[in-house]
Amino acid sequence: MITALRSLFPSLQPPGRHYLDSAAMAQSPALVMEAVARHERDARANVHRGMHEMAQRADAAYDGARDSVAAFLSAPAEEVIFTGGCTAALNLAARALAEALGPGDVVVTTEAEHHSSLLPWIMLAQAKGFALRRLPVGGDGRLDLGDLSLIDARCRVVAATHASNVTGAVSDIPLLAEAAHRVGAVVVVDGAQMAPHGPLDPRALGADLYAVSGHKVFGPTGIGVLWGRRELLARLPPVVWGGGMVGEVDDGEIGFLDPPQRFEAGTPPVAPAVGLGAALDWLRGLDWSAIREHEAMLTGRLLDGLAVLPGVRVIGPTYLADRLPVVSFTVAGCHPHDLSHLLAERGVAVRGGAHCARPLMRAMGVEEGTLRASLALYSNAADVEALLSALAEAIKVLR
Ligand SMILES: Cc1ncc(COP(=O)(O)O)c(C=O)c1O
Repeated sequence: MITALRSLFPSLQPPGRHYLDSAAMAQSPALVMEAVARHERDARANVHRGMHEMAQRADAAYDGARDSVAAFLSAPAEEVIFTGGCTAALNLAARALAEALGPGDVVVTTEAEHHSSLLPWIMLAQAKGFALRRLPVGGDGRLDLGDLSLIDARCRVVAATHASNVTGAVSDIPLLAEAAHRVGAVVVVDGAQMAPHGPLDPRALGADLYAVSGHKVFGPTGIGVLWGRRELLARLPPVVWGGGMVGEVDDGEIGFLDPPQRFEAGTPPVAPAVGLGAALDWLRGLDWSAIREHEAMLTGRLLDGLAVLPGVRVIGPTYLADRLPVVSFTVAGCHPHDLSHLLAERGVAVRGGAHCARPLMRAMGVEEGTLRASLALYSNAADVEALLSALAEAIKVLR
């Protein structure tokens, strides 16, 4: 099955190319590229503005893409807001929620956050005067949720990643959400890394707002999603103003449209949204139990192979439960950038660095960063073996 899946990805066909950087950007199947090209050729018009033929096709395509995202998230379409990416979605969530926050309030984030889930809260805390607290990670890089007393009566928001882009650890969002909802706090979840690994139900998970990145779910760049519970979106203010999100406009009187249009000021990323819809329709039709088994098998082989290489320390869980096929590691005496350079010379694409997660690097004692191999549904055993043998050679060169 995986061979057939892989054959759908033109960029993975060149022999000797081993792409293990899918957590940074997943490759796109041809069907996504074709959907975007078809849209640009037959329906390139602005949406919800024109009556002409191409405008009507653009409306149908854009609204259809929203339906596709909604189906992937087990949600109604009016709970789906298109954004320019996951960073834009998380900034929108933070800005809209922070409108009601001030001194005396608390926002709880975690040490495992990507900067795009953390920096909006740091900047807004400085501007608005609310306090920030951070849930710690344990020795295996997983969120330590043993003591949730930080989520107390002053807490208004809990912002947490569903899965770490560094360690691959999946967070216990239902447990966090239960603690947050007990004190009336809103739960914002960064789903950038989780979404490429199967359809989701953020509402059932306990999230109130859930952010997804288009280019990590095999879709185009320049598109993301903020899902939100209808009842919450209805009382959040828009934080970007412009065309397409208002009805009446008078000097003192502005009639904002209902969600999701209220949060989509200006011309939206129409063609990327169409590509994202195509990607998610395709993903929904796949056999996810087989894919998860395949991803776990490759992750197991990777962890076993790393365990016997000299000086390697895995940063994150060394077991398969509750983790994604995203594996970070360090090699004593070797800088991650030198290693990633040597691996690139052997056709192996991985990422070396801090992965936009400086607090996590500090918590794990790896300020120089890590090397990260991130797999996706199209990865195969040859990719993993190529990484392990190139790494063994690189270690010999550098140590
Ligand atoms: C966990 C996590 N959150 C957020 C982002 C930002 O996503 P985007 O590139 O769509 O802005 C990333 C991207 O690497 C990520 O890994």
